[in-house]
Amino acid sequence: MGELDGKVAVITGAGSGMARASARVFVREGAKVLGADVSGREKETAQELGGAFVPFHADVSQEADVEAMFAAALEAFGKVDAVLNVAGIGGHGKMADVTTAEFDRIMSVNLLGVMLGTKHAIRTMVPIGGGVILNWASTGGMNGSRTPVGIYCASKAGVISFTKQAAIEYGTKGIRANAICPGLTVTELSGGREAIEKFPALVEGAPMRRAGEPEEVAELASFLASDRAPFITGAVLAIDGGLTATTP
Ligand SMILES: NC(=O)c1ccc[n+]([C@@H]2O[C@H](COP(=O)([O-])OP(=O)(O)OC[C@H]3O[C@@H](n4cnc5c(N)ncnc54)[C@H](O)[C@@H]3O)[C@@H](O)[C@H]2O)c1
Repeated sequence: MGELDGKVAVITGAGSGMARASARVFVREGAKVLGADVSGREKETAQELGGAFVPFHADVSQEADVEAMFAAALEAFGKVDAVLNVAGIGGHGKMADVTTAEFDRIMSVNLLGVMLGTKHAIRTMVPIGGGVILNWASTGGMNGSRTPVGIYCASKAGVISFTKQAAIEYGTKGIRANAICPGLTVTELSGGREAIEKFPALVEGAPMRRAGEPEEVAELASFLASDRAPFITGAVLAIDGGLTATTP
């Protein structure tokens, strides 16, 4: 018996990192998953996970792609119980140097993409009694960052804000919406294990003095998507080795 037996999940960004790890954990726990990515690497995830995982090519910043993604999930599995809006991109630049082009690039994936994923998740799940929305924000959306990633942080603060709004507006329609805020996690986006080992300052502020593993975040997502978390909604959950508990 898995904690997600019989559930269907849509996961964006499923060709890499925390989304791929989530697909792995969701399938292990008995879910069927439609995993979307713009990279083409969602097909590699499908090779690894077999028939319980359907790959789908989508750019989350394009509304037509997002609509098609939900239609494909309904066609493949007949319902959607959980949506994990994980796809995201990084971007550096001090506040006095950022350009409007960089602002648009980051916001289009991290904020517009998650907004579209949330909108169409609600439209898909409310008619079938509700479901769970998990939006990937960041500790950088709860506070600022010591690294120059202000626009990225602003995009993640936006994700936290409208995740709460979705929880408020659709709580009585069976929707639970929560924001997951990882701290530094070992993925391609953060430069991988090698980069993190090269710059120990990156983990100095965290009481556990290490970066998180994608699987650790995936386990939280599985619990939140399961029937074991029926009263958790509108929450902003840091999973950061204690980083946001500290003052420097
Ligand atoms: N890694 C970290 O330290 C960290 C910390 C906090 C939050 N996050 C957030 O976690 C989420 C997952 O990041 P990750 O670290 O696993 O990164 P990752 O780079 O390993 O995976 C991100 C995936 O999103 C996909 N993607 C990018 N743009 C897309 C688009 N327009 N449409 C569809 N797919 C797209 C990429 O192709 C990639 O497969 C992101 O939202 C990121 O901002 C990461």
